[in-house]
Amino acid sequence: MLVEIRNLRVQFPTATGLSDAVRDVSLTLGQEKLGIVGESGSGKSLTARSIMRLLPGNARISADRLAFDGIDLLRADEATLRKIRGGRAGLIMQDPKYSLNPVMTAGAQIAEAWRVHRGGSRKAAGQAALDLLTQVQIRDPERVARAYPHELSGGMGQRVMIAMMLAPDPELLIADEPTSALDATVQAEILRLIEDLVSRRGMGLILISHDLPLVSHFCDRVAVMYAGRIVEELAANELTRAKHPYTRGLLDCLPSLTHPQARLKVMQRDPSWLT
Ligand SMILES: Nc1ncnc2c1ncn2[C@@H]1O[C@H](COP(=O)(O)OP(=O)(O)O)[C@@H](O)[C@H]1O
Ligand SMILES: [Mg+2]
Repeated sequence: MLVEIRNLRVQFPTATGLSDAVRDVSLTLGQEKLGIVGESGSGKSLTARSIMRLLPGNARISADRLAFDGIDLLRADEATLRKIRGGRAGLIMQDPKYSLNPVMTAGAQIAEAWRVHRGGSRKAAGQAALDLLTQVQIRDPERVARAYPHELSGGMGQRVMIAMMLAPDPELLIADEPTSALDATVQAEILRLIEDLVSRRGMGLILISHDLPLVSHFCDRVAVMYAGRIVEELAANELTRAKHPYTRGLLDCLPSLTHPQARLKVMQRDPSWLT
């Protein structure tokens, strides 16, 4: 098992005591594609980042079990965690602008990521960077390798980010709203690319999004989060059989091309969902 999470809790101190941002979350992941959906603030990012122990400094984390490939992440030392972060597990975030170094060319950044994890000569790393740019389906890798982040479009920047994440040959990819900043066509291309890389390399994928249909299209399984909890977990092709009213609500609020409505439904939330 690549990831095991049992009863994960993430809390933050507030004026009135600790408040739960993630509670009783349990998940497992093998070489498969898991989607996590839910509205903003439901705890998706904190759950995924717990796997890399990349949480805000004031967060308190606890779990009955939190493991990556059998390694107990709550007891692992910093050196072990560093090997997992950006090595055995890669994180792709929404905006490459904040993750790429603005004063280094794309090629140099990928080559450096390669050398940190695999060693070897500068020349070999440079060649590896071009290979990786080709793998993320960039047609003119030499030109892109010489470009600085601000010279790249959003979609191109995201491809460079993905190439960098692939450099250490990770076993797990966490994509946290990787395409929210992109327009719809580029979004579909990037997701197809991620899907293709994940299946060809046999990685596990956690794809986070607030877009339920999109996630169910690209993933095998979907966990639906609401207010810090997983309220429902389903095979992606069984979405229409969702039972939880929040999941049903997400489905009912979708605009339909075949049955257009004058006004979209607005979801009614029930306080009982919180308990
Ligand atoms: N640094 C922080 N300090 C205090 N509370 C936080 C912090 N980061 C996140 N939270 C709380 O955790 C909740 C879940 O955050 P997050 O996992 O980022 O949500 P999502 O990714 O689903 O939008 C937020 O709604 C917020 O209440
Ligand atoms: Mg988030």
